[in-house]
Amino acid sequence: MIVLTGATGNVGRALLERLLAADRPVRALTRDPQRAGLPAGAEVVRFRPDDPAALFTGATKLFLYAQAAGPQPADLLRAAHEAGVRHVVLLSSAIIAEGADETHPIHVMHATVERAIQDSALEWTFLRPGAFATNALQWAPQIRAGDTVRGVFVGARSAPIHEDDIAAVAERALLDTGHEGAVLRLSGPQATSNAEQVAAIGRALGRDLSFVEVPPEQAGPELFPHVPPHMLQGLLDSFRAAVDATPEITDTVEKITGSPARAFARWAEDHTADFRA
Ligand SMILES: NC(=O)c1ccc[n+]([C@@H]2O[C@H](COP(=O)([O-])OP(=O)(O)OC[C@H]3O[C@@H](n4cnc5c(N)ncnc54)[C@H](OP(=O)(O)O)[C@@H]3O)[C@@H](O)[C@H]2O)c1
Repeated sequence: MIVLTGATGNVGRALLERLLAADRPVRALTRDPQRAGLPAGAEVVRFRPDDPAALFTGATKLFLYAQAAGPQPADLLRAAHEAGVRHVVLLSSAIIAEGADETHPIHVMHATVERAIQDSALEWTFLRPGAFATNALQWAPQIRAGDTVRGVFVGARSAPIHEDDIAAVAERALLDTGHEGAVLRLSGPQATSNAEQVAAIGRALGRDLSFVEVPPEQAGPELFPHVPPHMLQGLLDSFRAAVDATPEITDTVEKITGSPARAFARWAEDHTADFRA
């Protein structure tokens, strides 16, 4: 049995579909099973960290989101190990790197969980992806409403990764042996700027979209509805640092899965429904 936290998330849902297609028994955790809309075939269990037996009984593997691990992850990890879990695959972040700002809230959140896992009795694999292509969903309400996208840092560049490429790597890390102790840095195949991403979404939709830059000091929560307010400043700082920068590009997706990472244009084609009114 493989336990998935984040089963309703972009990566977790893609991983869940992969594991079900591979006929693996999966327990999908969510804080709200009623609203989760998870596929039949998964055992859906309410995520309640104070009831670890319900979460982990019968399981040997765990796919973990840092948010689910919480600020004090040791208790959850101990409970998982006591119930029989032996290997955890963590969805971490590329922000953890040599010379990184260790006070950045996104760094703190993931590094705290990585350290707790290393201090636990569990085998582990850390996935450290860079920017997700799904970050472009922040523009979906504007694109559904018109042809202009207001956003920060038109020239910020990233190598966005398709959520299903992260899921494909997670699937191999969970199902194959040999990934224990590995830190896998993941990215999409090419650097693209924010303006290029908006243009690619426009091409996928058959529309001509343009990007209008908003000064970061005027960027409020309405532009980032899914970002917790205490994370917003750190995120803006990361975007600022990405202007005209060369993002890290790795070939880890291809090495682990045998298929090259998908380009942002392909992601946009896969997600046209999210941008249509
Ligand atoms: N976006 C990026 O560019 C990027 C880059 C590197 C790493 N990451 C990391 O990737 C993760 C986000 O991945 P995603 O886009 O797939 O997620 P997402 O679509 O934002 O979904 C978040 C998932 O986390 C679960 N969750 C949130 N808070 C929780 C809590 N307190 N307890 C238990 N479960 C909780 C939610 O489950 P329920 O609501 O169903 O309970 C949901 O399934 C974050 O850890 C982020 O830091 C993101």
